[in-house]
Amino acid sequence: MKDKMIIKGGRPMSGSITAQGAKNAALPVMASALLLKGRRLTLERVPDLQDIHTMADLLRHLGAMIVFENGRMTIDVPEELNWETPADLVRKMRASSLVLGPLVARCGEAILPLPGGCAIGSRPIDFHLKGLARMGAEIDLEQGSIHARTKGLSATRIILDFPSVGATENMLMTAALTPGESIIENAAREPEISNLAQTLRAMGAHVEGDGTDTIIIRGTRDLESATVRIIPDRIEVSTYLLAGLMTRGNITVNGINTKYISSLLSKLEEAGVTAETTPDSVSLSAEGMNWSGVTLTTSPYPGFPTDVQPQIMAALCMADGTSVIHESVFDSRYVHVAEFKRMGGKIDIQGNTVVVIGVPRLSGAEVRASDLRAGAALILLGLAADGETVVHELKHVWRGYENLMEKMTSLGADIELIESDEPEG
Ligand code: UD1
Repeated sequence: MKDKMIIKGGRPMSGSITAQGAKNAALPVMASALLLKGRRLTLERVPDLQDIHTMADLLRHLGAMIVFENGRMTIDVPEELNWETPADLVRKMRASSLVLGPLVARCGEAILPLPGGCAIGSRPIDFHLKGLARMGAEIDLEQGSIHARTKGLSATRIILDFPSVGATENMLMTAALTPGESIIENAAREPEISNLAQTLRAMGAHVEGDGTDTIIIRGTRDLESATVRIIPDRIEVSTYLLAGLMTRGNITVNGINTKYISSLLSKLEEAGVTAETTPDSVSLSAEGMNWSGVTLTTSPYPGFPTDVQPQIMAALCMADGTSVIHESVFDSRYVHVAEFKRMGGKIDIQGNTVVVIGVPRLSGAEVRASDLRAGAALILLGLAADGETVVHELKHVWRGYENLMEKMTSLGADIELIESDEPEG
């Protein structure tokens, strides 16, 4: 795999690109196909990403037939499904846990090895399991795998301990196939949840309140074939917008929903950066621009997304003045800080808070991507820094950014991808 990027920094990123479909919306929507029996789910604007292929392989293993071409995916689900998920696929991606609820609801039983994913702090799935248990599933941990089974789920009221995105999605899907009225309180409000709710409505379930903290679902055993379009990827959009800013370019991202990036736009405004928006595009002219330091806390939507924390930290490394970032969603999501420092970032970590002292120039260095968004942030730093940067282990980045090389190059980036010369392990 070509896993190492050489970046010659200092060139402004200018031009326009179109947003990809959201990875974090496509994954749960794909998992929801398992609720169907002898029916088809058709999806539009599905991004061509490693994680999407992992989910497709997982669904195929469970019995689905999938065709994926030019952003259009059809998932045909047979009458009978396997309910045992394979460890090699599940360990690749934490979002594999999204098949648990649908399988238990559909088959009455599921086995799921404990899932993997980005190394960003401890990421248990206890809320998912508690919710399933409350709906009537018996949960056992057997040899590193979760074994969930039920003689019949019942609709109920679930209050989540935290507005977890994945737990809300798992509960939503399970409730859609469970007759009666279920209520999820303290639900996550992310736009990706609404994309899933829209899918379940298109299948014939009654779902209301998505986008608020209380979601009401009236489930049915007879869900129908449906067609759904995946929403634009707000994390990808944010990443490119910050690339335009950090390289002092002139960038437009089309095909977006501006509402989804409000928290980033308002933080940028606080830093003295004004973007121009229409409902479905955002433009930034950053030639000669300077920006000031800000204070921000990551939190569930509509708060500032944790998935943009490494990228905004990269931009704040170059701000006039000092910034304070508090990470409230994940523990230990600062693995990238050590790499940022190699490039001249002045950053101090104190628990879940970091203090960033802006510097006028960063310099190229040899760095390593520890996870998906950290990798994206290192690319941004490389584009903005003086000299040459080499980013290793970009395999993480391919999980989330479609056509990254093409998009970056079309905007003027001087980047090259080469085979990694390091042994694996
Ligand atoms: C999703 C996103 C991920 C994003 C995250 C937060 C997908 C595929 N991934 O991940 O990119 O960073 O939302 O916006 O959509 N927690 C528990 N127990 C649980 C579930 C979660 O303690 O059962 C904790 C997690 O460890 C974390 C916090 O709750 O500290 C938020 O996690 P959650 O919202 O569930 O994130 P994911 O759905 O895994």
